[in-house]
Amino acid sequence: MSSRYVLYNVCGLILLSLFLLRDAAPVGRERVSLNTGWRFLRATTNTDKLIYDQRPDVSDRNDLNVLKPWILPSANDFISDPAKRHQRPIGAPGSDVPFVQETFDDSAWEAVNLPHDWAIKGPFYTEDNAVVGGGMGRLPVQGISWYRRELTMTSVDKGKSIYLDIDGAMSYAMVWLNGNLVGGWPYGYNSFRLDLTSYLRPGDDNQLAIRLDNPTDSSRWYPGGGIYRNVWLTKVDPTHIAQWGTFISSKEVSAQSATIDLVVQVENKGPASRQIEVATDVHAFDSATGRTGEKVAEFPRATVNVPAGQKQPVNCSVTVKNPQLWGPLPTQRPNLYVAVTRLYASNKTIDTYETRFGIRSLTFDAGKGLLVNGKLVRIQGVNQHHDLGALGAAFNVRAAERQLEILRDLGCNAIRMSHNPPAPELLDLTDRMGFLVMDEVFDCWERKKTANDFHLIFPDWYEADLRSFLRRDRNHPSVIAWSFGNEVGEQSTAEAGAALAQKLHDIVHEEDPTRPSTASINSAKPDMPFPQVLDVISLNYQGEGIRDTPPYADLQGIKTPPQYPDFHSKFPAKMIVSSETAATLSTRGTYLFPVTNEVSAPASDNAGGGGNPGLRQVSAYELYTAPFGASPDKVFTTQDKNPFVAGEFVWSGWDYLGEPTPYYSARSSYFGIIDLAGFKKDRYYLYQSRWRPDLRMAHILPHWTWPDRVGQVTPVHVFSAADEAELFLNGQSQGRKKKEASNYRFRWDEVAYQPGELHVVTYKNGREWANDTVRTTDAATQLRLTADRTAIKADGRDLSFITVEVLDSRGDVAPRADNAITFSLNGPGEIVATDNGDPADMASFPSKERKAYNGLVLVIVRAKTGASGQITVTATGTGLRAAPVTLAVK
Ligand code: GAL
Repeated sequence: MSSRYVLYNVCGLILLSLFLLRDAAPVGRERVSLNTGWRFLRATTNTDKLIYDQRPDVSDRNDLNVLKPWILPSANDFISDPAKRHQRPIGAPGSDVPFVQETFDDSAWEAVNLPHDWAIKGPFYTEDNAVVGGGMGRLPVQGISWYRRELTMTSVDKGKSIYLDIDGAMSYAMVWLNGNLVGGWPYGYNSFRLDLTSYLRPGDDNQLAIRLDNPTDSSRWYPGGGIYRNVWLTKVDPTHIAQWGTFISSKEVSAQSATIDLVVQVENKGPASRQIEVATDVHAFDSATGRTGEKVAEFPRATVNVPAGQKQPVNCSVTVKNPQLWGPLPTQRPNLYVAVTRLYASNKTIDTYETRFGIRSLTFDAGKGLLVNGKLVRIQGVNQHHDLGALGAAFNVRAAERQLEILRDLGCNAIRMSHNPPAPELLDLTDRMGFLVMDEVFDCWERKKTANDFHLIFPDWYEADLRSFLRRDRNHPSVIAWSFGNEVGEQSTAEAGAALAQKLHDIVHEEDPTRPSTASINSAKPDMPFPQVLDVISLNYQGEGIRDTPPYADLQGIKTPPQYPDFHSKFPAKMIVSSETAATLSTRGTYLFPVTNEVSAPASDNAGGGGNPGLRQVSAYELYTAPFGASPDKVFTTQDKNPFVAGEFVWSGWDYLGEPTPYYSARSSYFGIIDLAGFKKDRYYLYQSRWRPDLRMAHILPHWTWPDRVGQVTPVHVFSAADEAELFLNGQSQGRKKKEASNYRFRWDEVAYQPGELHVVTYKNGREWANDTVRTTDAATQLRLTADRTAIKADGRDLSFITVEVLDSRGDVAPRADNAITFSLNGPGEIVATDNGDPADMASFPSKERKAYNGLVLVIVRAKTGASGQITVTATGTGLRAAPVTLAVK
């Protein structure tokens, strides 16, 4: 081979790779993670004398420095009326506070990485009248904190626009750079951007300081504390695609073709107007590997002149042939695309921006329900709060993915983000995993639910918070509807409340004309003004009726008959969905006696075996509810009677921190289908039997180890999609039962307990379907450790969730075991947290010792960043044999 030939080939390869590189790298834009290298200080008293604004919980207001006028301009990009935008006053407030100054020595502060939740490690407040009570999870979320970090800029950054992008900080964030107040964002759940450019010294070290302030009584659930989501530095040419500056929607969608509309906002922060060419290619996107695939379409190029200091939209459309549609699993596939937009100035690429999206059509049919791509999809949804149990509010992709995996196995296909914008990565997961999402922004407006909640800032911030939420999330195909409020007090303020709802509704449609708006209503009735405003009617609890059946007759509070028919006849063109159903309560694996004969009863009904206030437990017969709730069985009955209802979002999918109804001395909720640790309650199988009717599954409750109940009535219930079932106790039939209409479980309510074996055989259409067996256990003798994943990445984020079961000699889970278990770890990793799912367990989450709760414990393990090798996790308990579990670190 001649050397010339080799040279040609080498040159060719270099050219080819340069060409590929040009296509692959986001030329002109850098997005750098700022998650590492922070110093952190928490203060419970306000020594710096700064405050966002006067607040009811702050008494010594006079000597405080109110910063609101300097923070408000951060909202300007999201205020549509130029006259209402805020002018920054002169002055540099806070610059005299040592913590913001470059010379301040923070080496004694705690070193932390983000996402960070300062409160999750506890300890829990266990006293009566604690400063943070059960509602907010009894964890130390309150107070002020500071985060500091250096930003080292090179001279290459000169002339660029440099932005700080914070995905979420709880709450009242205020940001200083080199001693100058840049701006901030009060609402802790929204993502926001601050322009650092004019405060930054390129080619030098710069000092960033962020102050957060969490009032007490600011929430009805655990808000977490800290910079609990990712933080980024975005570096771009002064002329660039604006923050969340693309909007993609699809129309005329069929298997053969779809029209894609694109709007690109080009922003010019430079001193002179610029002529910009905008080009966008559409590629397939493989969400499993994260790879951009082949190009499938190209939008027509457009040229736009962008005056200095302004934004200009560019609109264009393209047709995609044979589109791979996005749809929810399991009946459809969540196919994704990515649009790659480039800005050119004088033929040079100055910015590259990627937008992931999906092509799909949605129809909200008042008679049938939701159609995705023309196919009916029943909404089998759950409500999810933002916390990740023992990991707190600090967002972690793997922990969120695990929540969704367990929900998918349940047959769940939809999530309501109750009641605030989620971490952006959670919507990437719902896109990829094929869940439908009701995305929700507020839990209250002007009328408060707690003393220091969002109502304090609603008048100043609602527009900016709503528009920024919509712009951030509107390209996600999983998002099907926008909820601009949950059970807001304005439901019952007649025309005034409806007028405010109309304002919010109009903003939703200005930012996204393609999806319906809604707000969840628990008290507004069809003839009131409020529901008229909503595109989709989202009912909380009232669809199936509230306190309307005999077991609830003695309770205080409004009694409401089932509302589905009335709403349907008043709004014959609007789809109805239940955005909250059930509010059923239970403690996993705990059964109390006697058991009610009813289909649904309040947990406070002690005569019917609902709850045990002393032990703070609610019976897991899955019949007991909050005072306004309904058992799953009652919800199913009402929904089946009203088949026009599109489906439901159960309250709640997982247990969450805070709101421990009915026992506020506990720390976490009883509402979940899944407990806080991720263990399945019995209810899991009830929903699975309805949501996955083809799954061959039968599930018996309760457990069958009741040494002190011999001879006593101990009802046995079975969840299965079967239509007939026969129960055997020690081989003796307890009767074969048929599921009648409006029966969603098999019940043998008169079984007298004898130790031994319970066995159920179920049938569907006369043929054997599925079986289940439960045996009386003997003493606990061993532990079994099972990791959800035995190989984890050493990226500082990946996790393994290890379940520990306490077993008897035959290997059956000892159902009441409460042995103290101690964890240790060998190798390049750490134990992050432990939990057992008991809402009343007050051991702090990082504790390496935890009592089993009803036979189960969870330990969460992370690998050290950059490590490799093996991690061995050992669990020990007195008198218990155990084999360790080994994890590979990649
Ligand atoms: C609803 C409310 C939820 C939760 C639930 C259970 O009224 O919207 O946020 O509080 O009750 O208590």
